[in-house]
Amino acid sequence: MFMLNDFSKQCLESKLSPLCVQLVELSEQAFSVNNGNIPKWVKAIESIKTQPQGGVQYASPYLKINSQAIDKKQLESAFKQLMPWRKGPYQIGDLQLDSEWRGDMKWDRVAPHIKSLKGKAVLDVGSGNGYFTYLMALAGANIALGIEPFLLFNYQFQAIRSLISSPPNAFILPLKLEQMPNESIFDTVFSMGVLYHQKDHSLHLQQLKNVMTKGGELVLETLVIDNKHGDQIIPEDRYARMRNVWCLPSTDTLHTWLEQAGFSDIKLVDVTKTTPEEQRATHWIGDNTQSLQDFLDPNDDNLTIEGLPAPKRAIFVCQK
Ligand SMILES: C[S@@+](CC[C@H](N)C(=O)[O-])C[C@H]1O[C@@H](n2cnc3c(N)ncnc32)[C@H](O)[C@@H]1O
Repeated sequence: MFMLNDFSKQCLESKLSPLCVQLVELSEQAFSVNNGNIPKWVKAIESIKTQPQGGVQYASPYLKINSQAIDKKQLESAFKQLMPWRKGPYQIGDLQLDSEWRGDMKWDRVAPHIKSLKGKAVLDVGSGNGYFTYLMALAGANIALGIEPFLLFNYQFQAIRSLISSPPNAFILPLKLEQMPNESIFDTVFSMGVLYHQKDHSLHLQQLKNVMTKGGELVLETLVIDNKHGDQIIPEDRYARMRNVWCLPSTDTLHTWLEQAGFSDIKLVDVTKTTPEEQRATHWIGDNTQSLQDFLDPNDDNLTIEGLPAPKRAIFVCQK
């Protein structure tokens, strides 16, 4: 079934071999849900598969597939069936798929601060369509596994993968972190843009720790507030128009949470305010064309439209 055969084969040859059977079973269940969009997505991928494949490389800002002689119109129309494209950007031949987010800007903030991924088993929790998971594999991971419960992003991953002639060892499975087998197996674990979506932040940190090898590295990226705004903000309703934001800790509070979860050598390596250059409306995000610019107070870009501190993201790196 869909991508899982390929995953299973590579997984059995990788450091994750003890988990493969269970991961495939869980993913088969997740893919078998009734989702009325699946036929449309499958058709789009069938159309994309008729296009020539190419090698893949990171040509910042794009994850670029060097396909020659693509039918640009056909490819664009198939990719549009898989909107919204939140994460990327991608380039296939001369077709630029400019996603809402400039993922390269986050990667440039993360990459200088992490241990080499060469030969490592890497987990990318909440991977979206796998833009970063590919970069992890291209950085030399033994295997880079993204887990992402939102099915559309799994299909987007498959669409991109079907255009790559020798795909790197990157996979996305439709799983939540809480479904992962309780095995300390990953050398590096990324949780980027996921913690603030969790009702129970300490459980999320514990679950990340559980799947890491002793001495493994956690890369945690999440929304924060400045220490001067207090220990944490728990939005009563929406935050920057997002419905499911549960906690915005200060960087000091987040440091304490990581300590309490039992991580060591905790380093805050970056704090960056999110700009409309990094998160922008493009014609790849579908009918709802609002993006960061529309979520900020029109008179004060230090505040969200709800009057809370505007989005700022911190990156912590620490060890198990
Ligand atoms: C804001 S996006 C971040 C995507 C990407 N990691 C990034 O940094 O740009 C958060 C993603 O995490 C996924 N997610 C939320 N809760 C999750 C969980 N418990 N386990 C795995 N993924 C989760 C969501 O479906 C969503 O696609």
